[in-house]
Amino acid sequence: KKVVLAYSGGLDTSVIVKWLQETYNCEVVTFTADIGQGEEVEPARAKAQAMGIKEIYIDDLREEFARDFVFPMFRANAIYEGEYLLGTSIARPLIAKRLIEIAKETGADAISHGATGKGNDQVRFELGAYALMPGVQVIAPWREWDLTSRETLMKYCEDHNIPVDFASSKKKSPYSMDANLLHISYEGGNLEDPWWEAEDPEMWRWTVSPEAAPDKPTYLVLTYEKGDIVAIDGQAMSPATVMEYLNKVAGENGVGRLDIVENRYVGMKSRGCYETPAGTVMMKAHRAIESLTLDREAAHLKDELMPKYANMVYNGYWWSPERKMLQAAIDESQKVVNGEVRVKLYKGSVTAVGRRSEDSLFDEKIATFEDDAGAYDQKDAAGFIKLNALRLRIAAGKGRDLK
Ligand code: ARG
Ligand code: SIN
Repeated sequence: KKVVLAYSGGLDTSVIVKWLQETYNCEVVTFTADIGQGEEVEPARAKAQAMGIKEIYIDDLREEFARDFVFPMFRANAIYEGEYLLGTSIARPLIAKRLIEIAKETGADAISHGATGKGNDQVRFELGAYALMPGVQVIAPWREWDLTSRETLMKYCEDHNIPVDFASSKKKSPYSMDANLLHISYEGGNLEDPWWEAEDPEMWRWTVSPEAAPDKPTYLVLTYEKGDIVAIDGQAMSPATVMEYLNKVAGENGVGRLDIVENRYVGMKSRGCYETPAGTVMMKAHRAIESLTLDREAAHLKDELMPKYANMVYNGYWWSPERKMLQAAIDESQKVVNGEVRVKLYKGSVTAVGRRSEDSLFDEKIATFEDDAGAYDQKDAAGFIKLNALRLRIAAGKGRDLK
């Protein structure tokens, strides 16, 4: 038996390596990805080697993540439950895809991950894996073992000579965190009290607090092609570079903090804090360029489909026929989403203050409050309103109470 493990190099997944070797007597292949979490991935190699791993995969997936996952999702303006920009959700299908590619390359018949049995991530990893390799076996140690506390985990490390400093190249955070180019998330610890304010300056890592942000605004001009940002302030950039740049500038201006209680797919509520600096700017700016270029009904239909799309991403159905159907419709709409948006970042807020496009549907001649020289005949509006009122007038005329 051979198992491909999504290996972070941290303590938990190092324990999983040992536990898999011991419990399943199997060969373990480790896979570690750089998806922009802001931590070195190379150290995972030596750690894996120290545990006798022979096949070690370390991939830089930043561009693929931004180009093929984050950018397509932002074309949809996807937001879960009105607030969450899906930072963790959108990374899981990519990890699942790579796990399966590696399983096929190495002749493995199983995959494994470090997600618990209580969360969304297990669902996302496994739905992805099954969709891409229907016969794959999934091993989720957190659902099987009894190392359910920090202490039992530490004891396991001692008994199996796993150096505990595997975990702490940096100071151990009290929060369960997950980071990539789109966001960093915090759950657990004090956050398990939904009334407790996340004012811990140690927690927030990518943004300054709005109070501490500069007193002068920062302006950026974002260039869009087919719904994607291709340049900032006139400088062409790859998708991952766009995100790295926006994360930095928006973070410095305190943009992108979020504190919510959300509904997990498995049925429980969970409290989470998120920093999504680039994503917060991208959402605002994309809506601004769409506001100028999209037909009204196309835009409104997109907005109706959006919550469905967001649910698919949140619940782990990236690799599904329904998500692909919606994606095709969304991508079709983006052909005209070209142009420039000027955004202002200031003390935690992002405002679109200007937009222009060759594909603009905005017609000054028609919209003007000044003399329109006959471009729009105001008399037409009388009949338009009267016919729309017809059924209301009939009902009221027959004595229906419409109050
Ligand atoms: N609640 C968020 C989501 O479901 C974040 C999950 C964070 N995952 C983690 N392993 N810490 O998308
Ligand atoms: C986990 O349980 O592994 C993290 C939280 C989640 O997946 O929702």
